[in-house]
Amino acid sequence: MKKLLINMFLVLSSVMPLLSFSEANPTNFSETCEDGSGETGSSFGIGFGLVLDFGLYRNSCPEAESIVYSWVETAVSQDPRMAASLLRLHFHDCFVNGCDASVLLDDTEGLVGEKTAPPNLNSLRGFEVIDSIKSDLESVCPETVSCADILAMAARDSVVVSGGPSWEVEVGRKDSRTASKQAATTGLPSPNSTVPTLISNFQKLGLSQTDMVALSGGHTLGKARCTSFTARLLPLQTGEPANHGDNLDFLESLQQLCSTVDRSVAITQLDLVTPSTFDNQYYVNLLSGEGLLPSDQALAVQDPGTRAIVETYAADQSVFFEDFKTAMVKMGGITGGSNSEIRRNCRMIN
Ligand code: HEM
Ligand SMILES: *[C@@H]1O[C@H](CO)[C@@H](O)[C@H](O)[C@H]1NC(C)=O
Ligand SMILES: *[C@@H]1O[C@H](CO)[C@@H](O)[C@H](O)[C@H]1NC(C)=O
Repeated sequence: MKKLLINMFLVLSSVMPLLSFSEANPTNFSETCEDGSGETGSSFGIGFGLVLDFGLYRNSCPEAESIVYSWVETAVSQDPRMAASLLRLHFHDCFVNGCDASVLLDDTEGLVGEKTAPPNLNSLRGFEVIDSIKSDLESVCPETVSCADILAMAARDSVVVSGGPSWEVEVGRKDSRTASKQAATTGLPSPNSTVPTLISNFQKLGLSQTDMVALSGGHTLGKARCTSFTARLLPLQTGEPANHGDNLDFLESLQQLCSTVDRSVAITQLDLVTPSTFDNQYYVNLLSGEGLLPSDQALAVQDPGTRAIVETYAADQSVFFEDFKTAMVKMGGITGGSNSEIRRNCRMIN
């Protein structure tokens, strides 16, 4: 029912561009008529009513979408994992004080960035691709396209070039003049999280249980280090009865990987079957006990509610794609801190 309401709203909002809302509870709509500019469109702001728009750059920078797309396409053709890394950057941006490009800031005198927070350290990739996009955009339409919007468009394009669905990205985000290593440390979910923890972590940002399971499907792309899935190997090491619906052959292959190479550098695919294709294989893997992160496998075994969603997505890719698109638009609408400028260089405030 809740999902139906959200879908109805998304349909409504695309035909009624003057309707906007910003509520902590995404099902509690307040209809506000905006007058004047005609620049505002539908918004899915969850924090303080940042108004996002579908067509903002159509006039101010018509080349924006194609510039982003072609850089992403090139980067992913050279390194298929780059799609994963760019998708994850947008997630790590939005979960920390909203989608404000705080994740891109380097440490400078007077500013501690988020790149050294434990969930990000030696793990985030793709900053150079964002730099290239930004520098191209600054020469074509200076100080027009925010770094936070570049992240949102690059995340969508990464999914598309990997074979996943496309959707219209709302734009109009502003970039922050601050970052929070503390918020990045506590706000990003740990791979050891239980299902209730994951649900509440996402709920705080206005994302439902269904959104959480659908967004976890981002793990159909990319890689993780042994340090991220140590807890999956515990049943082998302690001899304790396997839980998590464990697939012992799979766990043994992981243990072998992580013991033959330096554990801190060993990495493996989050989706062992189709690692560079955006598809529903991740959910199929969870049902056979081949989820890589503890938090992935937990979705299929810890909670009947998330299990049912996993089964649905494993059986029907089109349901996964629809829910993923919806959830990405919601995640991309999270707002938080004070985002106030369009950076000229995504790594530093103006
Ligand atoms: C549900 C909670 C989530 C947890 C606990 C989680 C945790 C992780 C961890 C631990 C890694 C591996 C990092 C490493 O070992 O270096 C990872 C990688 C990744 N995550 Fe998540 N994640 C979650 C949700 C998401 C979401 C919502 C997305 C995007 C929609 C996402 C996209 C990715 C991608 C694409 C990678 C691979 C990145 C690469 O290869 O560069 N994750 N995640
Ligand atoms: C909707 O939000 C308004 C304002 O925040 C609040 O007063 C009202 O009780 C909410 N209604 C529902 C059904 O949650
Ligand atoms: C997850 O749990 C394992 C085993 O208890 C631990 O070694 C590891 O450091 C934890 N990882 C994180 C990211 O908390």
